[in-house]
Formats: sequence, structure tokens, C-alpha cells
Amino acid sequence: MSSSHWNQSGHLLGLENLPREHLLALLSESAAMLPRVTPTQADPSAPLDGVVATLFFENSTRTRMSFTLAARRLGLDVLDLNAATSSTSKGESLLDTARNIEAMGVDGLVIRCSASGGAALIAGGVDIPVINAGDGRHEHPTQGLLDALTLQRHLGRETFDGMRVGIVGDIASSRVARSNVHALTTLGADVVLVGPPALVPEALTSLTGGRGPGRIHVGHDLDAILPDVDALMMLRVQFERHGGSGIDEDYTQRFGLTCARAARLADGVPVLHPGPVNRGTEIDPEVADGPRSLILDQVTCGVAVRMAVLQGLLRSSRRHRR
Ligand code: CP
Repeated sequence: MSSSHWNQSGHLLGLENLPREHLLALLSESAAMLPRVTPTQADPSAPLDGVVATLFFENSTRTRMSFTLAARRLGLDVLDLNAATSSTSKGESLLDTARNIEAMGVDGLVIRCSASGGAALIAGGVDIPVINAGDGRHEHPTQGLLDALTLQRHLGRETFDGMRVGIVGDIASSRVARSNVHALTTLGADVVLVGPPALVPEALTSLTGGRGPGRIHVGHDLDAILPDVDALMMLRVQFERHGGSGIDEDYTQRFGLTCARAARLADGVPVLHPGPVNRGTEIDPEVADGPRSLILDQVTCGVAVRMAVLQGLLRSSRRHRR
């Protein structure tokens, strides 16, 4: 990616309004990082020096560990805030916490929080790059990027013009769905959002404001879309956000990707899931572990994407300061 986009924003808060050429450049930089995710020989690339702080106010396995690994692969130190034992438990605000950690001399912040817009709030109050690792129901931009990179590599194509991607499940609560809708429609795919009406309201059709070449459709019948999709992304039911409200007892029967449903997908159509997986609820274990599944490829691509984002933002930020 040219330095101009990094310099303009200085943070990664979401994928909404990220132009196609910037998205493609970032995906290309991420793909170039893949050989460094599982290196077979000493890494010849110049290491970065500096410290990144990870501030996770919600639980995480993939995002937290892959940001940590990505930073270490780049040569950075990682300072991890233990949210449960931090002074936020005494009432210190997110912004005060971030500003105090910035004052210790760290070079960037990776933040996950339950408040939609929380990462943007912090970005407005500090002078170092902020990377949104998931803010409430708003966005999870590195997840959207890693899903796009996974599809690019699987399909062997850079853009998704003319494709149809189904995203199934708890869309209303999902920051993953939002970032994916922005990335996929910008790259040309039509996206079909499918689930019960309480979790997939019609209002979601206006999510992108029609800016990307791809369009958004809303549906409530998974069986109807199966023969027509080029990729299918299953989402976790986020019981912790709504306590199961809007989820009927027959959820799995109507919206679960069972083996029988997976067999109705066209040959070669891949299945994605951002994790963590509720096996037997939104997807059968045999499908999650089966030949269509890209779930572990997504995780590998996540390290590469996070390396590219950390490197781009930190290098740009340091240039800016000189
Ligand atoms: N996909 C994802 O964000 O997973 P974690 O919550 O484990 O980070």
C-alpha cells in the first residue's frame, strides 16, 4: 500500500469507505507477509523496533494471539493489558487507560472493547496509531481483511466482481458481518445476509449506502440461497450480546449448516467461519472440519493481515513524526 492511505488516517478503525485500490493494496501487502507467518528460514526483512500495547476488554483467542504473534514476527515488543486486573475495574475510563499507556512510550494500541465506536473515541484522544480489534457491534476490520485474503487465495482472484457471498446467522450483533459487507461489496461481490428476521432486519440493506459495486440482499431462507452462492460464511450466535432473544428453538434446523445443506452447495464452494465455532449450532462439526472449510486458513491469514497493518501504520506514524 502506498504510504498515503496510512498517513491520511493514521489508524485502522473500520473498512467502511476504504477505497477499493487501498483495500487491494493492503490485501497484497498481507499476502506478501504470509511466508513470514510460518518461516522456514531466518527472516531477512528488517525488523521493526518498538512496543505495541494490546488492550482487550472482551475475551479473544484468535485476534489477541495473532496480533501478539504478528508483532513479534515483525520484531516488536508487546505489552498486554490484563483488563480484569487493570484499573478500569476501579472506574478508569477507556480513554484515560489508553492515554496513560501511550504516556509510557508505546508506539501503537490494539483495542477490543464492547462499546461500538470505542476504538474511534480512543483514536481521537491519542497521538499513536490505534487498530480496532473489534468494537461492540460496529466493525472488526482485520477480520474483514483476513476473510477477503482467504477468499482471494482460495479462489485465485483479486476481486470478487460477479460473485455472490452468503453470510448466515446473527448479523445484527456482528461486527464481523459489517466489516465483511464493506470489504466484499467494495471488491465487487453481492452479499446475501440470511437469518431469522430478529437477527437480520431489512434495514441492513442500507449498510453500505450503496457505495460499493456489490449489492446487499436480505433473506430468511437458507435453503433458498444454497445453490446460488460462491462462498458461504457462517456466524456464531452471540448469546452474550442478546441472551438468546430472537433465537428460536429450531434455529439449527432452519439456519445451521448441516452436512445435508453443505451437500447442496456447488462443487468447490468454500465455507468460512470467523470463530469461535458453536459446533452443532450454526455448523455441523463434519462441515467445520471438512474439505470445504477454510476456517484454519482464515486464522493463518489473520497473522499476515495483522503484520501488514502493524507495519504499515507504525512505519507511517514514525515517518510522520520525523
Ligand atoms: N474471530 C475472532 O475475533 O475471534 P476471537 O474472538 O477469538 O478473537
